[in-house]
Amino acid sequence: MRSAIAIGLLLLGAVGPALGDDASVARCGRRKISAIARGCRDRLRAEARFLHDADAVAHAQRVEAIAGRLVTTWAQAETEAGDIRCATDTADGAAAAARLDAAVSATLTGLSGPTECRRALVRLWAPLCRVAIATERALLRGRSDAAAARAAAVTRLRGRIAARWPAPGCTGGITPDEAALAVLRLASGAAGDATTRGLRTVAAELGRAVGAAVEPDEVASDATYAAALAHDMGSLTAENAMKWGVVHPQPDQWAFGPADAVVALAETSGQRVRGHTLVWGAMQLPGYVDGAATAAELRNYMADHIAGLVSRYAGRIAQWDVVNEPLPGTLDPPTPDGLDDNVFRRLLGHGYVEEALRLARTADPAARLYVNENGIEVPGPRQDRFYQLVQDLLAAGAPLDGVGFQAHLGLIPPAQYPDGAVIEASLRRFADLGIEVELTELDVTLLFRPGDLPTRFAFQGDYYRAVVAACVAVPACRGVTTWGLSDQYTWLRSFFGVTDWPLPFGDAWERKPAYFGMRAALLQGLLAGG
Ligand code: G3I
Repeated sequence: MRSAIAIGLLLLGAVGPALGDDASVARCGRRKISAIARGCRDRLRAEARFLHDADAVAHAQRVEAIAGRLVTTWAQAETEAGDIRCATDTADGAAAAARLDAAVSATLTGLSGPTECRRALVRLWAPLCRVAIATERALLRGRSDAAAARAAAVTRLRGRIAARWPAPGCTGGITPDEAALAVLRLASGAAGDATTRGLRTVAAELGRAVGAAVEPDEVASDATYAAALAHDMGSLTAENAMKWGVVHPQPDQWAFGPADAVVALAETSGQRVRGHTLVWGAMQLPGYVDGAATAAELRNYMADHIAGLVSRYAGRIAQWDVVNEPLPGTLDPPTPDGLDDNVFRRLLGHGYVEEALRLARTADPAARLYVNENGIEVPGPRQDRFYQLVQDLLAAGAPLDGVGFQAHLGLIPPAQYPDGAVIEASLRRFADLGIEVELTELDVTLLFRPGDLPTRFAFQGDYYRAVVAACVAVPACRGVTTWGLSDQYTWLRSFFGVTDWPLPFGDAWERKPAYFGMRAALLQGLLAGG
């Protein structure tokens, strides 16, 4: 694992004049892809041999040699690239080798059946893993037919499995499709470690957005932050800059500076903008709003605020979180109608949500309008109440285009880390209403997770992969936004005064397993179709 200081020094060059150029970085990526493609083939061949001769000592030596070759080849690529992005945009060689080793072992652990059958399957997988990973080379070369070539390669891969099915000695057990998915899952993880393509590029191929919430002043004061955003993020959310208390502190006073900075930053890098948030009854509400005495007064404030803010960015903000957290906080006492007891609910009734949506639609007909909530990733009374609210809004003809699943995961026991399948089912439940869904504030806290940091980061990496895969599996899930990009700026540290590591980048801007887990999930969506 590279030291944080080394990474920091490495990265400083990334934003200054990189020694090489994009072509040298792509060439580096192709070399790393080829190395790990051979690594996967050889690693599976070693497993097939071990299933045959059960020679544990020789097997261990072969496994070590395979990892050594991969690490050496990656180091050579980094040395020859003449651009530090060759190192920073991919996983560390030793980490990639270790993850490949663990993934191959996990794949075999999942196999059942006679040794002859498992061996035949592993021997069949070996060349296919190399082929599947190697499809990323064409994308790194920027070939216009690269996606078609990848699809053709996957079709041939599936055909070769089907043509040899059932593998010798196999009766029952996994199906050809499951066998194909297993090798494509292996390949996605390996390619996710080795490619130099940013998250935003891979996500865009899937027609999805990957983004982060940002504070513009933090980006302005941290050049490495700006470079990472430009390379990896296709969407920006204003973490606080567009909140009522920040942008409209008095009825006749607007403070658009930070909000303008977020929009300008996004437009500089061709990024989508998520506006957050027009109406939030619980936090950062100006005193004049929270203290409104009548429905008419509050209605006037809300109409003025939404018209003034949304129209300013009409056509430039793709989505608005029109209402944030209409339900009570997960730790708050329940309320009679299940909605948060805030000034909007008290003075305007539950219809305030629909009113806010209609005001936003009028101010910018092009923007996609969302209601955003936390704690709805898992089934239960909270998700049901939110589902009822969404159904009521749709039944009333409210201009609701989507719902945001905040996905602050690991925070609220006991459903701290819901399985990817559970999250996928929740996303699908709302998507089946005919609306879009997004993961809008994803972070995975490690506060309550036992183990040393590398162990917790490894868990976090697998979990980010499962969560992003849940979104990828649901066509109506349009994007994944993390709530911040680097641990150093996470709200969890400032808000709770704790040290936590919930995000894809570490304190020195090193890409953590979480980052590579996200890229693996996106590549799996491209290779295996979800
Ligand atoms: O900017 C002021 C600064 O001038 C002042 O000196 C300082 C100390 O009082 O406060 C600063 O404002 C803080 C702001 O973050 C910017 O750092 C507020 O006090 C603080 O309450 C605010 O916390 C934000 C929180 O929402 C409440 O708005 C977090 O950064 C932000 O990450 C968090 O994000 C929310 C989403 O909007 C909705 N979903 C939940 C998510 C996490 O709570």
